[in-house]
Amino acid sequence: MPLHNNALLDVAEEIERIVGERWVITQRDFIESYLKDETPEPIRPKPADNLILVKPSSTSEVSLILKIANEMKIPVFPVGGRTGLVGGSIPTKPGIILSLERMNKIEVDRENLMAVAEAGATLGDLIKAAEDAGLFFPPHPGDEGAQIGGLIATNAGGARAIKYGVIRNYVRGLEVVLPTGDILSLGGKLLKNNTGYDLMQIIIGSEGTLCVITKAVIRLFPKSKYMVTLIIPFNSRSDAMRTVPQILRSGVIPLAIEYVQLKEIMKAAEHLNDNWPVQKGFAQLIIILDGVSQEEVLLACEELSKICESNNAIDIMIAEAPEEQNRILRIRSNIYTALKPDMIDILDVTVPPNSLEKLMDEVDAIAAKYGVYLPTYGHAGDGNLHVHIMKEGMKDMDMADAIKNEIYSAAVKLGGVITGEHGIGKLRFKNLSLVLSEKHMEIMRGIKRVFDPNNILNPREILF
Ligand code: LAC
Ligand code: ZN
Repeated sequence: MPLHNNALLDVAEEIERIVGERWVITQRDFIESYLKDETPEPIRPKPADNLILVKPSSTSEVSLILKIANEMKIPVFPVGGRTGLVGGSIPTKPGIILSLERMNKIEVDRENLMAVAEAGATLGDLIKAAEDAGLFFPPHPGDEGAQIGGLIATNAGGARAIKYGVIRNYVRGLEVVLPTGDILSLGGKLLKNNTGYDLMQIIIGSEGTLCVITKAVIRLFPKSKYMVTLIIPFNSRSDAMRTVPQILRSGVIPLAIEYVQLKEIMKAAEHLNDNWPVQKGFAQLIIILDGVSQEEVLLACEELSKICESNNAIDIMIAEAPEEQNRILRIRSNIYTALKPDMIDILDVTVPPNSLEKLMDEVDAIAAKYGVYLPTYGHAGDGNLHVHIMKEGMKDMDMADAIKNEIYSAAVKLGGVITGEHGIGKLRFKNLSLVLSEKHMEIMRGIKRVFDPNNILNPREILF
């Protein structure tokens, strides 16, 4: 239903009475940065013209706003740090952009190793709050400007997911607001909870389509007593790739095993006016290991060294100083940003870890067939690969689409999925039938209707 400007302005006035005039922004200039995310420009969905931005300060304000929107059937787009890569939070229909950035408190419960974080706190805030309490939040889903609500809504992954899992594995409790305005409290500071259908797990990864997340209980871990980052160069990609499942089977459980190629990681370093510390080989593995003592970690390093050497590693560089390890992670996290200006799309196909090498062979064959370069890196220990479709050599968007479809099909044939990390957002609907049956889609559509019968939350072309 198209929303007339006047209707939206009437609603804006009503919402002003709830949150205060200052927190309802109607002027387009001040909304501009909420209209996009980190999706590459050529495929980024266009935002609607008629939008207002609302910044509530409490769960009860969120509840009142949603109630009004639901009664008037006005679309609501919950946004976090807008660091997504599939247009998930872009407000594509006239309506309300709902930013929880003012709700950013974090309390750490050291006794139970849990943080209670409001949805608008950033990943950077959470990392710091954990550190200040002498604790550790292990995963690192890239951009630290991401917000807790968004991290949970997208079940963010990133590096350091091998040992303890992705965001889903950390969330123990949620407070959410349904479109009716009902406030639902799920789970708590619990490590076990078997009380009925796990609605919390359905909400995690639901991309803002079922409810608005306002608060979360997040599991923390004791700070690693000792941590190292290894960079291991290989002359051939298959040597590097073959090493990964062998490490996973060795009994050593690293926090991260990342695969990079020298060309792109050097570009990322250059982008940050830095230097990549190991300029050897074609492919490299970056491995992060932690443990309770130096002996334990060095023993694990020895075990890994043996595996890497047996697979023709050229060298093994160990970074021990925390600043050096942070620098390595920062450069790794910036490959995407460095490549972005020349990019059409970034894929995040995921296969069983032992099939990663086969997938890369397929990607090579596809690149050769179309005569294009498809720079690739990824979270190798998770079988999660970022293949980039670049502008160079691409005749048109149809060709980019054909390449993407072939990569998706190759991943699915290997028992994989089209997205293991970035989600469906507003870009991946067309390809969903490659992995989800019609029955599966029907059940998901049913769940959407139960939570959001008027389809006001982050409405998309295909309902779910
Ligand atoms: C990364 C983002 C692009 O792995 O997912 O750098
Ligand atoms: Zn990633």
